[in-house]
Amino acid sequence: MRFSEDFLSELRARTDIEELVGRYTEIRHKGSRNPNALCPFHTEKTPSFYIYRENQSYYCFGCGAGGDAITFVRNIERLDYTEAVRFLCERAGMMMPNDPVDDEYNKLRRRCFEANREAAKFFCGMLGTPAGKAAREYLSKRRLTPETVKHFGLGFAPDSWDSLIKYMKGKGFSENDLVAFDLAKKTSKGGTIDAFRNRLMFPIIDLRGNVIAFGGRVLDDSKPKYLNTSDTVVYKKSQALYALNFAKNSNDRKLILCEGYMDVIAMHQAGFTNAVAGLGTAFTTEQISLLTRYCDELTLCFDSDEAGKKATKRALAMLSSAPLKLKVMYLDGGKDPDEIIKTQGREKMTSIINDAVNDTEYALNDAKSRFDIKTEDGKLGFLNEAVNILAGIRNAIERDIYISKLAGELDVEKNAIAAQIKKQSRFNQKAKENERFSEALNAVLGTEKKNSPNPELRGNVRAVKAEEIILASLLKNPDYLKKLKGKLTAEIFVTDFNRRYFEDIRTRIESGRSLDLFSFGEDHENEEMAYLSYLLTKSNEIENAVKECEQCIITLIEEKSKKEAPDVAKLSDDDYLELFRKKRDKKKTEGV
Ligand code: UTP
Ligand code: MN
Repeated sequence: MRFSEDFLSELRARTDIEELVGRYTEIRHKGSRNPNALCPFHTEKTPSFYIYRENQSYYCFGCGAGGDAITFVRNIERLDYTEAVRFLCERAGMMMPNDPVDDEYNKLRRRCFEANREAAKFFCGMLGTPAGKAAREYLSKRRLTPETVKHFGLGFAPDSWDSLIKYMKGKGFSENDLVAFDLAKKTSKGGTIDAFRNRLMFPIIDLRGNVIAFGGRVLDDSKPKYLNTSDTVVYKKSQALYALNFAKNSNDRKLILCEGYMDVIAMHQAGFTNAVAGLGTAFTTEQISLLTRYCDELTLCFDSDEAGKKATKRALAMLSSAPLKLKVMYLDGGKDPDEIIKTQGREKMTSIINDAVNDTEYALNDAKSRFDIKTEDGKLGFLNEAVNILAGIRNAIERDIYISKLAGELDVEKNAIAAQIKKQSRFNQKAKENERFSEALNAVLGTEKKNSPNPELRGNVRAVKAEEIILASLLKNPDYLKKLKGKLTAEIFVTDFNRRYFEDIRTRIESGRSLDLFSFGEDHENEEMAYLSYLLTKSNEIENAVKECEQCIITLIEEKSKKEAPDVAKLSDDDYLELFRKKRDKKKTEGV
């Protein structure tokens, strides 16, 4: 299918390659110009996979994988071009143009939504039957009101191997459907059983009100405590947040992130309807981008145990570059918000929320807790860490407030702390520059190691390098074609491989088509996309590109004439003498 350039540029604008890649591999050096990661396409210990924000592309200097967001999805999800566009489209919340309404994939998704809705209805119904007695008792033990139970659509999966399967078959679903939607499981003996048995059921609802998955909790202390739907055609747990369908309506754009289902429900019941939770996975970058769509301020409300503290620190680190005001609650007097509300009431929770500290205060408190500041050593140790934390604050006024506070608290000269922070900032700046430098160096060294995919590279290293610089510059600055008119022609290219790319790029420029990687995808296979994004990585290193291009054109002419010069070793004596004579004459005329 052909897509219009308008559509592709909209899709491109709505797709963030860093966020997309972050779903598959942890991105390092988030703040740096070119973030890197361990390559998701091959196994490696040090990152050689780079993301280029400027042109929304990626390139792995280890295995040569590269391209744009569409290429990435094609390769990692093993989809064809159109399916990859559809995949990104769905993520971006866009409609596929001229999408045949009844295509198989959409049909399957619709069927999955229907099945989940039916299953949710079944679980709700079971809660009211005699079989649901224990579950009803459990809910009241947990102090959930009937309104809350109804609001969240809670239900009960009975203690039976196949009651849901039977019910769903009556509604026209096959066992295969149910297994695909993770409502049933295949046994090793080839039978099919209900996926959730004897569990309290929490439907997970998307922003459009569809039931997309379930969590199921045991009614006692058996394990596992929760079972969750695995990923299906309509559900990716790393991309969802529990109760965001309700919380998104809280209109002050402030959200509270809790750890669990029960926490969220207890919070909503107590009136804190802006609480959401992750779904049995560690916090993900996709959840961050979802959150940033619905809030400007995020307060972390993780459990007060060690695991919760660790999760808080990890989340704060991940959130550090997100455009969000960050706060952290101290859950003193209970392990999680559910317990605090239950044992100490909603007023206590209100004061905990009001006492939440911002991320800097949290980091300072955390550092302080690790030192005994009554001793000189402890004081110094804490100050060192505090300086480090405050050196990261850009806002001078904000920094000054903390410096004053610290100075008062530790009885140290304010100026001394400020001077130390300045020194540290400079040091950090240097470290950042060094990192950038080694990144660039890595990129260059990596290029040499990997080399170009050009089959004629051997014997043409100098020419290929020049060709690549020209192509890279053209991709970045299409107007060079005009600037270099007359000089830059297909004929000067030494290798057929690059000449083809030149022809392609030139045709695009001349016919006014986009040079955006997104629009190359339709006509180019994945390996070619990898080459184009490799070229783009080069384009970022070129400084004065017109001058470089001119230099490269000269190089190519030289290389070409070298090639055309006969191989001296193979010449007959006469020919050799002839050549010698020519050279001598040339030197004479040049006055050498
Ligand atoms: P918790 O163990 O803190 O449970 O797990 P909870 O939410 O406080 O539940 P209660 O109060 O004991 O009933 C926090 C979250 O981690 C996920 C669930 O999403 C849970 O809400 N989890 C936990 C699982 O997915 N599976 C498990 O076995 C346990
Ligand atoms: Mn709990």
